[in-house]
Amino acid sequence: MANVTVIGAQWGDEGKGKIVDWLASRADVVVRFQGGHNAGHTLVVGNQTYKLSLLPSGIVRGTLSVIGNGVVLDPWALKSEVEKLTAQGVSITPETLQIADTCPLILPFHRDLDALREDASGQGKIGTTRRGIGPAYEDKVGRRAIRVCDLAHLGQLGPQLDRLCAHHNALRAGFGEPPIDRAGLEAELAEIADFVLQFARPVWLRLNAAKAKGERILFEGAQGVLLDVDHGTYPFVTSSNTIAGTAAGGTGLGPSAAGFVLGIAKAYTTRVGAGPFPTELEDAIGERLGERGREFGTVTGRKRRCGWFDAVLVRQSCAVSGVTGIALTKLDVLDGLDQIAICTGYRLRGETLNHFPAHAADQASVEPIYETIEGWQESTAGARSWAELPASAIKYIRRIEELIQCPVALVSTSPEREDTILVRDPFAN
Ligand code: IMP
Repeated sequence: MANVTVIGAQWGDEGKGKIVDWLASRADVVVRFQGGHNAGHTLVVGNQTYKLSLLPSGIVRGTLSVIGNGVVLDPWALKSEVEKLTAQGVSITPETLQIADTCPLILPFHRDLDALREDASGQGKIGTTRRGIGPAYEDKVGRRAIRVCDLAHLGQLGPQLDRLCAHHNALRAGFGEPPIDRAGLEAELAEIADFVLQFARPVWLRLNAAKAKGERILFEGAQGVLLDVDHGTYPFVTSSNTIAGTAAGGTGLGPSAAGFVLGIAKAYTTRVGAGPFPTELEDAIGERLGERGREFGTVTGRKRRCGWFDAVLVRQSCAVSGVTGIALTKLDVLDGLDQIAICTGYRLRGETLNHFPAHAADQASVEPIYETIEGWQESTAGARSWAELPASAIKYIRRIEELIQCPVALVSTSPEREDTILVRDPFAN
C-alpha cells in the first residue's frame, strides 16, 4: 500500500511542514488524525508562507484534506484559519476540506480551564499551548463532549449540556469562576454550526473508499512521539497519542493503512514548554542553535529550548512508533561548529541506561553520555545530493542511523522544498 504516515520523532517542531508539503503534492488525500490547533506547521510555497495549526497541509495545494475523529476541533479556530488562508488565496470548500462528524469540540470554557489550571500549578506547570486541548480530550473520554454531529441537533443538546455543565461548573467554582453561561454557549454554537457542518462527513467512509481505490493517503501527525500521552515524557506531554498507530484509530481505517512511517527528526533537539530534556544546552552553543535554527514556536511564539541530538530518545521514538525511515531536518543549523556531540546513552545512579526511564524524576536526573564527532566548516544549506555534503556531515548522518537503528530516507537542508536529499521515496514503498 502506497500510504505514508509522517510523525515527529522528538518533541515536535522537527520541520514536518516542509516534508509534509512535499509529500502532499503527490498524495490524493492528506489526513490529520490527532491533536488540534496546538500544532504549528509552516509551509513555504514559492514566495508565500502559510502557517497552519488545524488544517491538513494538503489544503494549500487543493488536495483533499481530511480532519479525522482523533482531532479535537475548535470551531472558532477553524473559522479563523479558513478565513486567513482564504485571504491568502487558498480555496477551501467542502470538496477540499472534510471533517469527521465524530470530532469532539473544543469549547471556550476548555480554553479557560487550560489556562486556569496552568496558572494554579506553580512548579507543576506543563507549559501547555493553552488552547484547551487537554480539557477537550478529557471530556471526550469522560463521555461529556459535544461533537461535530451534535451541531446539526442543537435542540437535543439538553441532557448533554446538563452533564457537561455539572462537571465544569464544579471545577469552575473551585477556581472562583462563575458558572458556564449556558444560554450564551448555546447561542455561540448556533451561530457557528452551519460553518462547521458544511465540511462535516463520515470521513471514515471516504477514507475507506480511497483505500479501496488505491489512492495515496498521507497521514499528517502533529507534535512528536516524546509528547505522546503514553510513550512521552509524562506528565509533560500533550493529551493525545502522537505515535503512528493513531493514524488508524484517529481516522477509522485499519492498522495496515499507515504504510511507510516517516519519522521526522531534527539534526539536534528542541523542546517548548516544561519537562525533562537531558541534552539541553544552556550555554552559547544552545543560543547559537536557537538563533541559527530560528527556534521560536509557531503557535505561541515561545523560545524553544535547544540541545544536542539525543540518539537514545530518537531510537525509542522509532521503536514505539514503528518508524520505517527518518527524515533528518535542519542539518545546516550545525554548520560551522568545531565539534558536535551525540547522546548515546545515560548514566543514572551509577548505572548505564540505553533507554529513557519512565519516572519523571529519573528522566530529569539522567546524565547523557556523549560521543563527540568532528564538525564541518562548509555550508550544507541547500544541498540536494550527498556529493554536496562535507565528509564530516555524511559521517554524522551515518552515525545517527547506526545509533537510532533506523535508516535515513531524506535529509532536509533548508526550508525550501527542493533543498532535500532523497535516499528513499516513502511513497514508493
Ligand atoms: P498542549 O498540547 O497544549 O496540552 O501542550 C502540552 C505540551 O505539548 C506542551 O509542552 C506544549 O508546548 C507541547 N506542544 C503541543 N503542541 C506542540 C507542537 O505542535 N509542537 C511542539 N510542542 C507542542
